[in-house]
Amino acid sequence: MEITPIRPHVGAEVRGVDLTRPVSPETRERLNDALVDHVALVIRDQRFGPAEFLAAASLFGEPMEDQNRRYVVEDVPLVSVLSNRHTDSRGKPAKLAANATWHTDHTNQACPPKVTCLYPVALPDRGGGTSVCNMRAAWDALPRDWQARIADMRTENTLISSARAATGNPDVVADQSAAGGEPMVHPLVRTHPERGTRAIWFHQNKTERVTGMNPVETQKFLGELLEVAIRPEFTYTHTYRLGDMLLVDNRSAMHRAGFDYDHSQHRMLYRALVRGDRPF
Ligand SMILES: [Fe+2]
Repeated sequence: MEITPIRPHVGAEVRGVDLTRPVSPETRERLNDALVDHVALVIRDQRFGPAEFLAAASLFGEPMEDQNRRYVVEDVPLVSVLSNRHTDSRGKPAKLAANATWHTDHTNQACPPKVTCLYPVALPDRGGGTSVCNMRAAWDALPRDWQARIADMRTENTLISSARAATGNPDVVADQSAAGGEPMVHPLVRTHPERGTRAIWFHQNKTERVTGMNPVETQKFLGELLEVAIRPEFTYTHTYRLGDMLLVDNRSAMHRAGFDYDHSQHRMLYRALVRGDRPF
């Protein structure tokens, strides 16, 4: 098995391993270390059905349910399906744009997934990649005044923030009003439980408030923070080939789906989530 960095700050490519076959504890540890070091891993040349994909994801920890139960593989419900051909409960094309902004997954939960795993099933001719930003590097490079300002900030998370609800999938908005309840409070800058490094970490569309700000101020502030924090050298856009398994260490990363493709073509990925700890 060979592991080769893709960009100096983010991404590594893995070749020469077949995750449908038994994997030794040493290989598993090397893969986990590489994922934590490089924030994103691309494991090439896999041949997965949904069950094999889930088994491969399980090498990195215990799988957890996707909170959106509408689009899951019937016999393998821990694998969800991301597709530009989904329809919402009204039979209209489901809105995808929310995934096209920088975010990390499931921040409305107490323990969001530590790893997001993706595997393409159908791809457009061009575009439709997944971008990953190393938010540990982004934190380290953040101007000192910004670091001081945000170091102890907290985000209050819901399924979809009121400021963004108007642009969201109507089913998600309906789920939000059904769920109600107290927002989930997380640090805006989290500490990596395995390494002790810090990273800027949030989902703008799920942040109802940064504690102390109103929802409108919150959206403006987080937009400004992204502009200062995300630098091209910290990002990598993975353009999929069939057979690629992409893994993102959510504890050090934010990601976004590429919207830059011909939407008459089919884009479909399997997604599996690995259970994480409570962010601190
Ligand atoms: Fe995501």
